[in-house]
Amino acid sequence: MTTFVLAVASFLAVCAPALATQCSEDPVSIPKEWVTMQKNCTDSMRQQIQMEVAASVQYLAMGAHFSQDTVNRPGFAKLFFDAGSEEREHALKLIEYMLMRGELTSDVTSLITVRHPERNHWANGVEALEHALKMEHTVTDSIRKVIHACESDSEFNDYHLVDYLTADFLEEQYKGQRDLAGKASTLKKMLERHPSLGEFIFDKKLLGMDI
Ligand SMILES: *[C@@H]1O[C@H](CO)[C@@H](O)[C@H](O)[C@H]1NC(C)=O
Ligand SMILES: [Fe+2]
Repeated sequence: MTTFVLAVASFLAVCAPALATQCSEDPVSIPKEWVTMQKNCTDSMRQQIQMEVAASVQYLAMGAHFSQDTVNRPGFAKLFFDAGSEEREHALKLIEYMLMRGELTSDVTSLITVRHPERNHWANGVEALEHALKMEHTVTDSIRKVIHACESDSEFNDYHLVDYLTADFLEEQYKGQRDLAGKASTLKKMLERHPSLGEFIFDKKLLGMDI
């Protein structure tokens, strides 16, 4: 008996995957009532995903700019490359959220269109920090619009998504904006007092070096 069970089990272990690769199955038909996100909300989520990807690309360009041998500000480069990775994470989190809610199952390829960065040059660190702050403010504004679209639908108030965006995304936006504003302020003060060394020393601080 045991031998027979083992034989069947090993047959299935070997053949089942092989059979699966030969079959082409139609997508299964399952109930869709549980998929409750509404169009205004999903449309604005899609736009938000694009915006996070665009921010990621823009930060990548900023990191590359400050990495050039002629600019050579490794602290700024790290700050902006890290910020670019975070924006990519944000896009991923929004995609994963929509997938959890049963969305994006048939049209993922149309989701991401990558555009060129809007800007490729910054005269100095202050200019880049202020640009980053402006960009974050635009993103915050856009997240607020997603929240509005998802809570004001006449058919369905999407409490869960609104809570997620408010608690996770807006929280990070406000903290990030404060961090950038503080950095710009410190750098400006350093430049006023030590114009020749201010940005150099600030860059070392961004790298976490004691100075
Ligand atoms: C979707 O958004 C449009 C434009 O803001 C609005 O007129 C419409 O009432 C919204 N749809 C629902 C179902 O709330
Ligand atoms: Fe973001």
